[in-house]
Amino acid sequence: MKIKNICCIGAGYVGGPTMAVIALKSPEINITVVDNNKEKIKQWNGSLESLPVYEPGLSEIIKKVRSKNLFFSNDIKGAIEKSEMIFMAVNTPTKKDGEGAGMAADLRYVENCAKDIAKYSKSDKIVIEKSTLPVRTAEKIREILEENSEKINFEILSNPEFLAEGTAIQDLFKSDRVLIGGDKTKSGQKAVKALVDIYANWIPREKILTTNVWSSELAKLASNAMLAQRISSINSLSALCEKTGANIDELSNAIGMDHRIGPHFLKASVGFGGSCFKKDILNLVYLCQFYGLNEVAEYWHQVVKINNYQKNRFTETIIQHFKGNLEDKKILILGWAFKANTNDSRESASIFVTQKLFEAGARIEIYDPKVERNNIIKDINLEWGYAFNQVSKRVSIKDKNLSSDKYDAYVILTEYEEFKNLQIDSKLVFDGRNIFDKPLYSIGKS
Ligand code: NAD
Ligand code: UGA
Repeated sequence: MKIKNICCIGAGYVGGPTMAVIALKSPEINITVVDNNKEKIKQWNGSLESLPVYEPGLSEIIKKVRSKNLFFSNDIKGAIEKSEMIFMAVNTPTKKDGEGAGMAADLRYVENCAKDIAKYSKSDKIVIEKSTLPVRTAEKIREILEENSEKINFEILSNPEFLAEGTAIQDLFKSDRVLIGGDKTKSGQKAVKALVDIYANWIPREKILTTNVWSSELAKLASNAMLAQRISSINSLSALCEKTGANIDELSNAIGMDHRIGPHFLKASVGFGGSCFKKDILNLVYLCQFYGLNEVAEYWHQVVKINNYQKNRFTETIIQHFKGNLEDKKILILGWAFKANTNDSRESASIFVTQKLFEAGARIEIYDPKVERNNIIKDINLEWGYAFNQVSKRVSIKDKNLSSDKYDAYVILTEYEEFKNLQIDSKLVFDGRNIFDKPLYSIGKS
């Protein structure tokens, strides 16, 4: 089956970059990325300098394919109608209320996509789970799709995304693997082949892995859990390093040189952030509990608990340095994003640490080279729970790196290259990302 038209529902950090790369590599396919957020679509269609997602290399690709075979639109109905293949790349945050609140994934956005697909489809569709979902979600999606009254065949595939923000384009160009889960039926395998053929335009076939739907759904959650588990493991050891005089970088290096362990994701830090690790692990914990696997649930839960412990531990070190009183202390926060080279601040450790320093009385100045001022204000409103004008006497956002000014402390919370060359009195630095040579405090170094 040759796919000519693709629709992707969700124009976010996954939908935008993945569809841009598919469009670049498959010029014969027309792709429409739709979203119910009108402002976001306007931004995707607007200036290349202010796309809603910042990723190195993304704007260059958008420049090449936009309005040729990649389109951004609010017309969800039209895009569904004309496409043979539909990706669902909508958000799947942790549930805020109802059963499983605080743990389970909120599937309402995915369910709404499925409802739209059921409502607007007039011909057979391959429906692809691109969002990260609990294992067996495809069952629920099938139920919704079957509400469609016409005689339409829907094939559901799972094709989770493994890109990391900040390196999304290079990850998509050279994926370690592409995972596609589908039914073993004849039509299921035909759908799998149609998707394999698209990726095969640039991914070597041996890296395109096909499995059953449940393995694919679960492999995504498990991959994120394993990555985050390594960070929590090294972060837990950073606390022991500080007590014993061992050095966390030396430890990490020594451990990672064992080829069976490997060096990646062993960098001690103030804690992992990002929209996915925490929510995906909590989702995994919830699933384990649901199936009565309480020991397994507790094992994975500990990964999130250590992450919270690490964020607290780092913050307390700063507060204790000033003997609990930060009044009149002027602190420069270097980094608001959850990692370098993204404008995304979701679940960033910086949001947490900065709030605690503010609440301890400090005067805060925030600088981030990528996160827009309005987003920082939004985070303060929503995550801190203060209206910005309530805090603006003691919190300001800088457009320029002011690290040459005098501060009582500099707190590095994102691993931007430009922070590595700071010309400041290094004694004043609290380094949450272990990037500076001799700061006052750097995780795991006594
Ligand atoms: P996002 O919040 O950046 O984007 C989701 C978009 O979906 C939003 O723009 C929202 O307006 C839109 N949307 C929601 N419901 C809709 C509906 N019914 N109709 C039309 N549009 C709708 O989210 P994201 O970071 O792109 O993540 C999407 C999924 O991919 C999540 O499940 C996430 O876990 C997973 N994932 C994310 C990353 C990442 O790096 N961000 C990587 C791999 C997987
Ligand atoms: C992560 C995974 O790496 C992706 O494979 C996955 O697709 C994605 O989640 C997702 O499902 O959303 P991402 O969160 O974008 O990607 O970025 P990472 O590079 O994994 O970093 C996550 C956090 O861990 C950052 O705060 C980073 O600073 C921190 N980190 C990372 C460490 O503290 N130490 C490390 O050694 C590595």
